[in-house]
Amino acid sequence: MQRPRRLRKNPVVREMIAETRISKDMFIYPYFVVPGSGVKKPIEAMPGIHHFSTDNLLKDVEKGIKLGVNKIMLFGVGDEKSDDAHAAYDPNSLVPVAVKALKKNFGDDLYVVTDVCVCSYTTHGHCGIIKDDYIQNDLSVDLIAKMALNHAAAGADMLAPSDMMDGRVSAIRRQLDQHDFVNTAIMSHATKFASAYYGPFREAADCAPNKGDRKTYQMDFRNSTEAIREARLDEGEGADVLMVKPALAYLDIISKLKQNTDLPIACYNVSGEYSMIKAAAQRGWIDEQKVVMETMHAFARAGASIITTYHIRDIVENNWM
Ligand code: PBG
Ligand code: ZN
Repeated sequence: MQRPRRLRKNPVVREMIAETRISKDMFIYPYFVVPGSGVKKPIEAMPGIHHFSTDNLLKDVEKGIKLGVNKIMLFGVGDEKSDDAHAAYDPNSLVPVAVKALKKNFGDDLYVVTDVCVCSYTTHGHCGIIKDDYIQNDLSVDLIAKMALNHAAAGADMLAPSDMMDGRVSAIRRQLDQHDFVNTAIMSHATKFASAYYGPFREAADCAPNKGDRKTYQMDFRNSTEAIREARLDEGEGADVLMVKPALAYLDIISKLKQNTDLPIACYNVSGEYSMIKAAAQRGWIDEQKVVMETMHAFARAGASIITTYHIRDIVENNWM
């Protein structure tokens, strides 16, 4: 008789049979950097996550590196906002200054990914330039490419454009090539859906649109064929890694993309996904460790080899892996 249960008999055989294994090497930890010094301020809607000024960021990153969290993604919050988002490409603004400090302190022991998007720098909170009541694609792309170059010049190892404008990967790649940043990688948010799961993040990054939504640039969550098209375009434009965002409600996209690309696939386990687990765990309704680890394995099983998640510090600090 066929008895699959034979291979589940005890932990030893189950370990041997396991098809998906995850390791610390797969994870990227997001950080929110703010101006000033001495700041470590909890973000209410994301328990365990903070706003850090650069001095405290360095201290926290150092702790993380000791635990094996040596890849981070940086978001800048609280720089000057303007209609033309000029702070986004100012070499003396928050993110480039923080990147320089991080690379100076940790060198190649730390891999620094920066979020490239202008929504924290525009007065209106959209991820591009608005003209005639419409988010302009090509004008926005020029700005985004300038911002990307600025991060690369500061020493960022990888750029993660999250705006979903058309053609931005090739524009960034062109800028990088022209300025000889040939080893700066691009992790494109290739398929980023217009999602309500970003709710807590918009508080954290102070980037909620003051009017309208992001549906004219981010993807419609009803579409998966289009998701593959988006990913293919970014691959053709020179992306090194393709990201799917959010992650948990989009495992089918990860899995389908895995069959349609040779590039590494990353997923972004976003703020709302994180906060749901945290909230239920705080109430004692779920076992946080078990739910978190089941979730991380689901991403890997679906085909992601890179996982961006706010959970990774809990995982390593408590030895959950
Ligand atoms: C904005 C941006 C968002 C996130 C990352 N970059 C929000 C949005 O598109 O509205 C979401 C990340 C998260 O929820 O953790 N470019
Ligand atoms: Zn944005």
